[in-house]
Amino acid sequence: MKVLKCHWIFLVLITALSILWYSYITKLNGGGVVSNPGLRGYIRITPGKPYQFLDIHNKQCALVSSSGQMLKAGLGSIIDKEDFVIRMNNAPTLGFEHDVGSKTNLRVVSHTSVPLLLKNETYYFQQSASTIYVMWGPEKNMRHDGKGRIFNALMKMAKKYPGAKLYAVTREKIQDCDNIFQNETGKNRMQSGAFLSTGFFTMILAMDICDNIQVYGMINDSYCRQVNHKRVPYHYYEKSRIDECRMYEAHEKARRGGHRFITEKAIYARWATQRNVHFKNPSWRL
Ligand SMILES: *[C@@H]1O[C@H](CO)[C@@H](O)[C@H](O)[C@H]1NC(C)=O
Ligand SMILES: *[C@@H]1O[C@H](CO)[C@@H](O)[C@H](O)[C@H]1NC(C)=O
Ligand SMILES: *[C@@H]1O[C@H](CO)[C@@H](O)[C@H](O)[C@H]1NC(C)=O
Repeated sequence: MKVLKCHWIFLVLITALSILWYSYITKLNGGGVVSNPGLRGYIRITPGKPYQFLDIHNKQCALVSSSGQMLKAGLGSIIDKEDFVIRMNNAPTLGFEHDVGSKTNLRVVSHTSVPLLLKNETYYFQQSASTIYVMWGPEKNMRHDGKGRIFNALMKMAKKYPGAKLYAVTREKIQDCDNIFQNETGKNRMQSGAFLSTGFFTMILAMDICDNIQVYGMINDSYCRQVNHKRVPYHYYEKSRIDECRMYEAHEKARRGGHRFITEKAIYARWATQRNVHFKNPSWRL
């Protein structure tokens, strides 16, 4: 009886030791699920420990459009009540709180907008260090080998502001997004002369990290065809001469270098029928 009990304790001990050993080895390799949780499409820009992935999950998200539709909508307090608020590029909240809210948990930022953040680096990376920044851009600007101009500038920020949470969309994830576009439209993104918009990357990211998404201020794909549609600025924070629909139509038709804003909206409408995505102000019938 005594011998049997000893065997049993010995077995438990061996099992515990092998579990410890396994987790030690996987940590050592920097590989394996144990030491690298998170979403592999979004990698931390940091001079420290490499291969940290964005590791967040939220129940209820607000995706706030930068559209002029946000003006005079008074949605600020509703937006601030959501668990997690996602904005794009440098869209300001200061001075627009009543319409767009003041909470910003995450910004998806285009490589072309990174210089705008750098102009005001203490505001974005020090004062607003609790905000997560996810940057996307072509390989040319975002490569990690020292030749990516925008990536290098961001790495400099990561060194200067260790508290800043900076991430880059990986090359593989960007390729995935191109594949998604092609699958949805039947058109090759590059050959058709299109660039995906920051909105597209933001919608994909929101679907990666949120259970439920309320999108504020985004128009649907038929909005601009309606004769009596509202004319609003392309961005709520820029009094541009060209209004939203004229901008969308110009981009949709551009042979090269255009964002297919309208096509992308038709894709979102299909996704929204399969997932928890809801559009407010204007609201969409799906
Ligand atoms: C930085 O951004 C904040 C918030 O939008 C703004 O109040 C401030 O004037 C900006 N500073 C500069 C130097 O642009
Ligand atoms: C391609 O599109 C179809 C139909 O919308 C969808 O079921 C499928 O999951 C998509 N595949 C990829 C790789 O996105
Ligand atoms: C698109 O938006 C317009 C204007 O808000 C609305 O009248 C129309 O019903 C919407 N269409 C769909 C399919 O949601």
